Amino acid sequence: MSRYLTTTAATRAALEQARARGLTVGLVPTMGALHEGHLSLIRKARADGGVVIMSIFVNPTQFGQGEDLRHYPRPLEHDRDLAAAAGADLIFAPSVLEMYPEGYSTWVDLEGLTAGLCGRSRPGHFRGVCTVVTKLLNICRPDRAYFGEKDAQQLVVVTRMARDLNLAVEIVPCPTVREADGLALSSRNARLTAEQRQEAPVLYRALLAARELLHGGERDAAVLDGTVRSVLAEATLGRIDYVEIVNKADLSPVVTVRGECLIAVAVWFGDTRLIDNITLAG
Ligand code: PAJ
Repeated sequence: MSRYLTTTAATRAALEQARARGLTVGLVPTMGALHEGHLSLIRKARADGGVVIMSIFVNPTQFGQGEDLRHYPRPLEHDRDLAAAAGADLIFAPSVLEMYPEGYSTWVDLEGLTAGLCGRSRPGHFRGVCTVVTKLLNICRPDRAYFGEKDAQQLVVVTRMARDLNLAVEIVPCPTVREADGLALSSRNARLTAEQRQEAPVLYRALLAARELLHGGERDAAVLDGTVRSVLAEATLGRIDYVEIVNKADLSPVVTVRGECLIAVAVWFGDTRLIDNITLAG
């Protein structure tokens, strides 16, 4: 059983007790609608030891106008069972008012890293993410916080934010969990039609095609980018939002793949936008 907490005060008190017993704290921030990707983060935190706290909060400030905030799934009971079974000791599921009380007016805004990729098509998104993650880190004061590589830009942004703001936390990257056919797990997959679901694994196939070309000696980012686009175009009617090849450390666009790069895609299937990425080691 995990303990279920809804207030900042109760969460602080529970974690103080754990620290007084000499335990470290691992935080897994989520928006719920848990799947194996989220649960793999809990298991990693569990393996690292100490107390594991998962937050479940559908953060309104990271959703843009016309995005799916209202329809975001909130299967709280089920999430509680899954999180407990995966090894979360505590679950922090605050209300919107608990996190953003009347008169709330402070924001954490990262420059540069948030300009491209998802930041370009979702203005304000990372301001919301950085703000809520800062708040969760301040509430829980974890030794470690776990983030999935599935959201590659988010991982880089949060890591930079922790460094820039001298936050005493280690940001731990966790590998992307996929379905057997390669589709990265996401709560948004449930919104795909049967036909879209069948097409969706092409995101990963397209990324792997680029990696294969690289292994064959092709380092020109424009050529690799073109390959991803043509693999996508052949297999889906989905609309490409972006295909980008960027430096993994600072997300700057690259012309030639050298060192560690990321190749990232976002594709619209109807009104559902899916993202994926892999590392290219040039
Ligand atoms: P959410 O989309 O619920 O994801 C929570 C965490 O699970 C993120 O770190 C995300 O990268 C990770 N994750 C999602 N799918 C994954 C997969 N297939 N494999 C591995 N990890 C996966 O990301 C957010 O919530 C929010 O922006 C949040 C950080 C909680 C701030 O509100």
